[in-house]
Amino acid sequence: MTEQVSRVPAHVAIILDGNGRWAKKRGLPRSVGHSEGCKTVEQTVRDAADLGIRYLTVYGFSTENWKRDSDEVSALMTLFRFYVKRLLNIAKENNVRVVMIGDRNRFDRDLIEGVNRLERETADNTRMTFVIALNYGARDEIRRAAAKIAADVRDGKLSPEDVTEKTVSDALDTAGIPDPDLLIRTGGEMRLSNYLLWQCAYTEFYVTDLLWPDFNKGELVRAIEDYNGRERRYGGVIRK
Ligand code: IPE
Ligand code: IPE
Ligand code: MG
Repeated sequence: MTEQVSRVPAHVAIILDGNGRWAKKRGLPRSVGHSEGCKTVEQTVRDAADLGIRYLTVYGFSTENWKRDSDEVSALMTLFRFYVKRLLNIAKENNVRVVMIGDRNRFDRDLIEGVNRLERETADNTRMTFVIALNYGARDEIRRAAAKIAADVRDGKLSPEDVTEKTVSDALDTAGIPDPDLLIRTGGEMRLSNYLLWQCAYTEFYVTDLLWPDFNKGELVRAIEDYNGRERRYGGVIRK
C-alpha cells in the first residue's frame, strides 16, 4: 500500500482490544483471536515505520490480564514466546528498536531473557522505536517510580524539593520516550484501562469499533488524519 499522510504524529500509542470478540463472532476460541491479533501487531509495526511514525507503543498484556482464565493466560504466554523470537528478525529487517515497558519480573526466566535479548540486539536501530507494554499497568508503573524516587531520597541522592515532573517522568518505564501524541483504541470501549496514565495527560484519543484483528493501515491513516484535524493546545510538536 502506498498511502501516505502529510503530517505524522511522532508517537502513536495503541490499546489493541477486541481479539476475544473477533474470535467469538466466528465461533472460534479466544486464543485464535489473540494469534490473529499478533499478526496485526506485526503488520502495524511495518505500517507505522512506513508512515514515518517514530514511536509506536502497543498494549500487549495488562497487570489485570492475569485474572483471566488460566488457559487464556497460558495461550498468551505461548504467543509471547513465539513473537519474542520472531520480532528479533522483524526488528532487524526494519531497523526498529524494541523496548519493553511493564514489570518483566513476573514472567518465566526464558521469556525475560528473550525480552532482554530483543532490547539489547535492537538498541542501535534508528527508524522507529516499538514499545511493547507487557505486564503493564500505569498505576503499577507509577508505584514503582515512587519507590525508586523514595529510595534516592533515603540514600541522600535527591531531596524532596528537587522532585520535579521530569524526575517522575525519568523514573517511569517510558523514560526518554516522548509522550504519545495520539492514542488509538480498537474495539469501541471509551476507557484507558490503566494505560499510560501519566504520559497521556494531553494525548488525543481516537476510538474505532473495528476489532483489533481487523485493524489495518487504512484505519491507522484515518486515525492520523482525524488527529491532524484537531486543535492541540498542549502536547507534542507535530513533525513534518
Ligand atoms: C485484547 O483483546 C487483547 C488482550 C487484552 C490481551 P481482548 O482479549 O480483550 O478481546 P475482547 O475485549 O474480549 O474482545
Ligand atoms: C486492555 O484491554 C489491555 C490490553 C489491550 C492488553 P482489556 O480488554 O484487558 O481492557 P478492559 O478489560 O476492557 O478494560
Ligand atoms: Mg478486551
